[in-house]
Amino acid sequence: MAILPIRTYGDPVLRKQANEVTDIDEIIVKLAADMIATVRHAGGIGLAATQVGALSSVFIIDPTPLGIEEKPLVVINPRIVETAGEALREEGCLSIPGLSEELVRPATVVVEGIDLDGDGVALEGTEVLARAFLHEIDHLNGVLFIDHLKPGRREVLRRRLREIARKRSE
Ligand code: CO
Repeated sequence: MAILPIRTYGDPVLRKQANEVTDIDEIIVKLAADMIATVRHAGGIGLAATQVGALSSVFIIDPTPLGIEEKPLVVINPRIVETAGEALREEGCLSIPGLSEELVRPATVVVEGIDLDGDGVALEGTEVLARAFLHEIDHLNGVLFIDHLKPGRREVLRRRLREIARKRSE
């Protein structure tokens, strides 16, 4: 397993749409394993393939920082099938280091996709897990959490975002 460099704000790959995975080959299996190693190394909860520059529709969640003793989740070709409620919670992103903002998102979400064996999975998430699912699926569509902020708030953060983008290109 390798720890991959995480692409940060300003990198055009973060704005790209991930492609549907049609074949779970060794490249995808290795990508998922590397993404798990990478998110653990970075101390995060979730990571989407676009964040490591791979335009494949894959995200992983490592629930151990949430106190959930479960294996990491690998979801391929995820789609949101249901959302319910609303929750306000602070949210951050490994691709936007040092910035976190409160954001309203659905409180519960059901996601369908396939796992590494090619079997269909349906996952229900609440609270932090719901947010993580929505956040990672956004990434696979080229969307960042800051896109959901009110325009006034984004304006306030503009300078800090520019600074993150500047550091990236150094
Ligand atoms: Co993120």
